[in-house]
Parts: sequence; C-alpha cells; structure tokens
Amino acid sequence: MKNVKWVVEDEKRKHVYWPSEHMKKRAWVSDHSVYQEAEKDPVAFLAKKAHEGLDWKKKWNTEYHHDEHKPWDFKWFIGGEINASYNALDRHVKAGKADKTAFIWVPELTEEAPKKITYKELYDEVNKFANVLKKLGVKRGDRVGIYLPMIPEVIVSMMACARLGAVHSVVFSAFSGESLKDRLIDADAKVLVTADSCYRRGKVLDLKSNADIGVAGTDVEHVVVVKRTGNAITWNDAKDQWWHDLMKDAEDYCEPEFVESNETLFILYTSGTTGKPKGIVHDTGGYLTQAYWTTKWNFDLHDDDIFWCTADIGWVTGHTYGCYGPLLVGATMLMFEGAPDYPDPGRWWKTVEDYKVTVFYTAPTAIRMFMKFGDEWVKKHDLGTLRLLGSVGEPINHDAWMWYFEVIGGGRCPIIDTWWQTETGGTLINTLPGIGPFIPTVSGRDFPGKKHVIVNEEGQEVKPGESGYLIQKPPFAPGMFRGIHKDEKKYIENYWTRFPGHYDTSDGARLNEDDTIRITGRVDDVMKVAGHRLSTGELEDAINKHPLARESAVVPKPDNIKGEVPVAFIILRDPSKASEELKKDIVKHIDKTIGPIARPSEIYFVHDVPKTRSGKIMRRILRALVRGDADVGSTITLMNPECVEELKKMVQHHG
Ligand code: WT7
Repeated sequence: MKNVKWVVEDEKRKHVYWPSEHMKKRAWVSDHSVYQEAEKDPVAFLAKKAHEGLDWKKKWNTEYHHDEHKPWDFKWFIGGEINASYNALDRHVKAGKADKTAFIWVPELTEEAPKKITYKELYDEVNKFANVLKKLGVKRGDRVGIYLPMIPEVIVSMMACARLGAVHSVVFSAFSGESLKDRLIDADAKVLVTADSCYRRGKVLDLKSNADIGVAGTDVEHVVVVKRTGNAITWNDAKDQWWHDLMKDAEDYCEPEFVESNETLFILYTSGTTGKPKGIVHDTGGYLTQAYWTTKWNFDLHDDDIFWCTADIGWVTGHTYGCYGPLLVGATMLMFEGAPDYPDPGRWWKTVEDYKVTVFYTAPTAIRMFMKFGDEWVKKHDLGTLRLLGSVGEPINHDAWMWYFEVIGGGRCPIIDTWWQTETGGTLINTLPGIGPFIPTVSGRDFPGKKHVIVNEEGQEVKPGESGYLIQKPPFAPGMFRGIHKDEKKYIENYWTRFPGHYDTSDGARLNEDDTIRITGRVDDVMKVAGHRLSTGELEDAINKHPLARESAVVPKPDNIKGEVPVAFIILRDPSKASEELKKDIVKHIDKTIGPIARPSEIYFVHDVPKTRSGKIMRRILRALVRGDADVGSTITLMNPECVEELKKMVQHHG
C-alpha cells in the first residue's frame, strides 16, 4: 500500500491527485455511474439507499413530500418506522458481529488503561441505561440533556435515548453552566446526564458544579452523574443519582421504540446570527440514511478499518461521525478523551500508531497547530496504517492541505474535504475516495443525490470561475434538519427566504472550471474559531451583560492557526474604568457566560463603534480594520465616521 503512485494531471495543476488503482479497487464507490443514477431520479436513488442501508420495522408509504409553497416543510420516508439504536446495535449483534469492537476508548491520562467495547457490550450498556432512563420517567419524545466529556457513557446515553425514542440534546462539556442552562430550558429537558469531573490536560475540572448551575431553575427533575475522577463534588439528594448505582439494578433488555421516520432523534444547539443559540432539530430516518451512506462512502469503511474522528461529541461532527455513522455501518472507531497535545504534541500520532488507525478525520485548525509543532513529533511514529484522511469544519488552506497530505498521509492517502453544517446532519459536498480528484482547498462535488448551485445576489447561477452564494436545490437532503426547536419563524427567515425555493447555506463558494466547488466561508455573522461555530451576536450579548459594559461589537480576525479569532470593541459605561484588570474580568465573564472557546483574542475599550444612521453596527468596517486593510471602505453612510480614525490608530498601535 505504501508505494501507490499518484497521477499528476498536468504540470500547471501539479496538485491534482487521483485515486490509486488500489484505492479504486477497494473503494465502495469507484464508478462515476453512481452520480448519473442519482441525478436521474434523486428521490428514488435515496429511497433505495435508505432501504439498503437501514432496517425498517415498517416501510414508508411516501418517499418524499415537498410542498411547493412551503419548501421548508419537506419530509422523507413518511410512515416508515425505525429505531436508531436498533440499527446501530441490535442488527450487528444479530448478524454475528457481537464481538467486534464498536469503539476503542483512549483516556487522556497515559497511565490509565484504554477500553475496548464490543458491539455486544455496548448493546448491553445501552439496554440497561435505557431502562434507567425509563425508570426516571423518560418517554418517547421527551428531551434528555447530556453534558459529558469524551467518555464511553456519552455514547451509551445517546444510544439509550434513541432506544426509547427520546430526544437527546448534547451540550459540549466546555460550555459554561449558564450556556447549559439556556439549552436545557429551551429544550424543556427533564433529565440531565453529566459527570463529577473531567480531565483537561491532566487537570481535574469540576463539571458537576457547572451542571448544578445548568439545572438550577429549569424543569430538570433528575441528574445522573457518572463517576469519572472521583473527586469531591456538591450533591443534591433531591435530584442527583450516581450512574453506577442506577445501572446496578437495571434490567438487561429494553425493547426499542420504533418511531415514525420524521420524529425527532436529537436537538443540537448551534450559533446563529443573533445572541440566542438555535436548537437544530434532526429527524430519525432521513438523518440515519445520510449518516450511514456518507460514513461508508466518504471514509470508505470496511471491516478491518479503525476510524478516528477527532471531533468532540458536543458538535455535530461528533454526533454523525463519532457516534451514529460508524455504529450504523458496524465499524470500529476510536474515541479519545484528551487534548491533542497532552502530554506532548506527539500524542495524536502515538495514538494513530498504537491503535493502527486507518482513517483519520480532523479539522484544519488541528492540522495547522501540528504543522507549527513541527514534523519531528510526527516522524517519531509509524503512521503507515493510515489510508484515508478527512478534513472538516472550515476552509483548509493550501499549505495545511499539502502538509496533511505529505507529512501525515505520507503522500499516499487521499484527503476528503467534507463540507457540511450542523443543519445538514451529514456531509453534502466532497470528493469520494475511489473517484477523485483530490485538490487542495477544493471540497469537490455534491454527494450523490444532492444538488447545490452557486448564485449571485439576484439568485442567478454563476459561471465557472466565479464565486457566489452556495444554495441547495430540492429535493433536500434526507439528513437536513427539520427546523429550529420552537422557532419556526426564525427557521423560515434564516434559511428559506433569501433565495426562494432553496436552502440558503450562508456560505460563499466558488465554482471551478471542472464543476468542483471550493468553499470560501461564511457570508453571515457566524465565525469559525478553531473550527468551532460562534456568532458575533452571541459574544456581544455575553459582553453586554457585564455590568461595566454599555455596548460592544465583535468581529472575526484572520488567524494563522485558528482560522479566525474574535476581536471585541467595547464601549464602557464609565470610560475611566478601562484597565487591563477589567479586560481580564471581562474574559472571566465570557468564560462563565459561554465558555473559554469564546474568549476574544483582543479587547479594545473604545468611545464609539461605527454605526449606520439607523444605529446598526457596521461590522464591515471593523472587520477591515482588524484585518489591517489600508482601505476600510466607504464611511459615507455612517452616523459617526469620526470614530473610525480613533479605532484605526488603536488597532494599528496594537499591531
Ligand atoms: C460551517 C458549519 C461540518 C460539521 C462541522 C461544522 C464551515 C464546514 C467545511 C469545509 C469549508 C467548511 C462552513 C459551514 N465548513 N466544513 N470542508 N470547508 N468550510 O459544522 O459548526 O455547523 O459549521 O462550517 O462555513 O457553514 P458547523
């Protein structure tokens, strides 16, 4: 496998790679005809795939319904009955895969032993925990909050909810207690699953005290606590119970609840353009179809593969490619608890070597970070088992792509640059490994059965070589979200209004001459900070809640490692209070309100921020300022053009 030759298309486009003969032979898909078949009749194609990939208790009566007048109100597999945990576990156990490893769990502390969990073991745990939840009163359709670090119980909890037809809402464990609370309230969760503490770079972080803040004043009746570190925590007898106590008495088998395909599988909160996070609602059958086929085809998973998706389970990538997808296809995955560079920057590569990882999926931010650490950390380890690499979450720059390809992939692994969103549930634009081509900074083409177009302001399709707005055409992908929890108005306004009849991705893209697509990034006020999604509005809202802040404006600034970092301009109630101490206090306040991932890289105390005559903050100008553009664009429509000079000096001075 090592000496696979890559075909270089021509001298001018040196970096266009095609699959090797070996890859083509092995890949699930290496024949273009799949695209043609899908394009001819996408609904029939996808329905065939839903049938082939998943076990349905009852087949649907209608494959796809889409109301011309309400394009957002589409439905797949109407009347079909399905259970996610049955598809992820029972059917593999029944098919003789009981002893296959479902996942290898690698703890952060190197002195702690890793665990291998087989499909049967996972099945047993999930059945038991589903019975625990049932006893706590969780029924089909009820919402359960999950606030856990990367430990096996997080997968057990998600699968147990799915088994009951209950809806999980996983909250990233590095979000603050306040963020957790907002999400628990919005979802009306009745149970929360959390842990005493978690490890972060060898330190013990008290998660339970955040969880306590999170549940206070909500409708959460029961808190199930996993003992991870065993350190002292506060305990509320009225609500809290240990996971291990509850599991001791739980019955072994829980009948899976088969739900109608369009019933909700999970809610996952993500940042929109306003201050309030949106509860993205995913259905069951459509989502599972997308998860199954994209996992199988993109990562080309076979029985002997070890798949490692490095994303935290608190993000959609963790849901689809660190839980549902690999389990649905019956693969073996790796789950890593720790930070990428703990105890040293060789940790990930040691993990690849130790567990013979074959397919590896991560974000450009991580790649750029490791590039900076230097090749020597990689070279210490044998990465020869790798055969396929994936990238996700933000545009990947040319240099990072080449480094990933050459240093990590040893020049033999294709890079699958997957474009998708929390809203789309699974990948939608990427090259397939047996088809190619693999081109740095280019995601590729639509996943079979899907069609995106790139349009200008007027909604007309751009020509090859041009850029514009990326929008999705009907029929909409089965994995697409089905709404924003309790906010249909926002759902329609945000996604379905600007380009009538289409799904508006809020991303910019360029159409290449060869019909492949290059994603250029968000066109709204959403930032991708180290691959994490944050909105400027959310951060501004958090800052404005600080007692000394009157108003603020946050914009993204390009960053060599993180892609983008937030920069905050803050107008104080009393400008004389400005100090370095206050900056620190505001950072602390942001940690508490959102979480440390939202920390601004710079804070400026200013007298004013540029505004239109109607009082809207002109972020365009601030963005240009922090980018260091000599020309910040027209200030003619501003109410307060004089403030721009002050800001320019400040930013330049900071340099
Ligand atoms: C936004 C969605 C996709 C799951 C994780 C992120 C950006 C995502 C790519 C890519 C360029 C990408 C887009 C998108 N994005 N993948 N391969 N190339 N940009 O999900 O947090 O909902 O963020 O991430 O801007 O809109 P998310």
